[in-house]
Amino acid sequence: MENPKSILITGATSGIGTALARSYAGSGTALALTGRDADRLKTVAARCAEAGAQVRIQVLDVRDRDALADWMRQVDAACPLELVIANAGVSAGTGGGGEGDDQANRIFDVNLIGVTNTIQPAISLMAPRRRGQLAIMSSLASFCGFPGAPAYCASKAAVRVWGESLRGGLHGAGLAVSVICPGYVRTPMTAVNDFPMPFLMDADRAARIIRRGLRKNKARIAFPWPLYATVMMLASLPPGLLAPLLRRLPEKVHSEDG
Ligand SMILES: NC(=O)c1ccc[n+]([C@@H]2O[C@H](COP(=O)([O-])OP(=O)(O)OC[C@H]3O[C@@H](n4cnc5c(N)ncnc54)[C@H](OP(=O)(O)O)[C@@H]3O)[C@@H](O)[C@H]2O)c1
Repeated sequence: MENPKSILITGATSGIGTALARSYAGSGTALALTGRDADRLKTVAARCAEAGAQVRIQVLDVRDRDALADWMRQVDAACPLELVIANAGVSAGTGGGGEGDDQANRIFDVNLIGVTNTIQPAISLMAPRRRGQLAIMSSLASFCGFPGAPAYCASKAAVRVWGESLRGGLHGAGLAVSVICPGYVRTPMTAVNDFPMPFLMDADRAARIIRRGLRKNKARIAFPWPLYATVMMLASLPPGLLAPLLRRLPEKVHSEDG
């Protein structure tokens, strides 16, 4: 969408979500921002308001389907939503341990169910108007099952394929769907990584690339291209050849909980 004026972002309290909120903040823009940390949410909201945006905030867990849907209805009634970005997500690192059973389930709850909890109400609200754009945060990690982060990769693969399917299905309803697949972005999520992260970029730069991709209504916003090309090449290998290569990669964090 060329210039959305009413934008909702989940996971706006940190990293890429904060960078996106600040990038869209400006005079004439209504922002609806959510996250779980009230203090960080207020800080981000204040900076966006200083930039001229009209800002609504709500402390929410994206796993709380009813609370999220209720809030989205309220926001939409006040200012019809034009762009919804389902960005909130966790990894093994931000969960405070490795991908033990509990953390693996939590990753699926937040990264997959949290995304459906965001996108489904958005579709219901936008479809009668036949206007709106949905953005789903996946990852370059969605293309290969990296042994150090199985639930994370699987959750990101699920939302990518879901979003790419929705794009075709919702085209006739006048809604646009884009899936975002970043490589390594400098945020609290990657700050815990103690291995080299090729082409690591700042969150502000990632936000600019995402915004440009959304403006062009790209189906898949995947970046940086050298890392995208590498994972696509890896993903094209037969599993029997790929698995031994991936086994050499480092784990995201050492597991503390199993
Ligand atoms: N950084 C990267 O390299 C990278 C690469 C590819 C994809 N991504 C994806 O980009 C998205 C943003 O990641 P980031 O790097 O910006 O990480 P981050 O700085 O850790 O931010 C994650 C955001 O998600 C929110 N969140 C987490 N669990 C939540 C829950 N249950 N309910 C509501 N909000 C929740 C957090 O809010 P609170 O802190 O307030 O709980 C925070 O605002 C994620 O989906 C991530 O998987 C990141």
